[in-house]
Amino acid sequence: MSQQEFWNKKFLRDGFLYGKKANEFILSTYKNFNKSKQVLCVGEGEGRNAIFLAKKGFDVIAIDASDVALNKLEGFAKEENVEVKTICSDLNEWTPYKKYGAIVASFFHVNAEEKESIFLKLEDSLNSKGFLVLEVFSKDQINYSSGGPKDLDLLYSVEELENIFNHSLIHKLEEVIIDLDEGTAHQGKASVIRLILQKN
Ligand SMILES: C[S@@+](CC[C@H](N)C(=O)[O-])C[C@H]1O[C@@H](n2cnc3c(N)ncnc32)[C@H](O)[C@@H]1O
Repeated sequence: MSQQEFWNKKFLRDGFLYGKKANEFILSTYKNFNKSKQVLCVGEGEGRNAIFLAKKGFDVIAIDASDVALNKLEGFAKEENVEVKTICSDLNEWTPYKKYGAIVASFFHVNAEEKESIFLKLEDSLNSKGFLVLEVFSKDQINYSSGGPKDLDLLYSVEELENIFNHSLIHKLEEVIIDLDEGTAHQGKASVIRLILQKN
């Protein structure tokens, strides 16, 4: 099954799976982003981070494999009177044709063999001094029932992210236990990895 088929099924349900409020970690980092540069939201789903950033005055582009999610994002953007550009593509097949001032992703989970090529492509598409901000479930999340894939291969470790991102300045890379309150899909104690990196 393609990522699009898998995720379309989930997003076809009414409502916003992860809620409409921006992810709290991304919300705590955006003030460092350069307003004159475009922000790319990766695996953006129904648009909560993209719309938050657009409302803060950023030029935002969202990419996701699910056309159902992106249709919901576009409706949400209209309600909020903001513009967010969208790209419907699997990240494995996407070729960046420009550079971004910041790239953000919350709970973007891909197979172990896809991680390095996707994340290096993202790092490469940052402007010099641009930020990459990620919040993802750690492998320890397998022990929690607050959301995320029940497959260790799709979950992350600090070490694998450290190994992938060894060319940029790492401001934060930590595994922490947090309380999630994001829609119906992310509720309760969770083990996440938070990354803030800045391209040299
Ligand atoms: C857990 S959801 C998170 C959505 C959103 N970031 C949020 O936090 O509300 C994961 C999202 O990543 C997208 N996704 C997963 N694998 C993908 C891939 N290989 N290429 C593009 N999008 C992908 C899914 O369609 C889905 O919207």
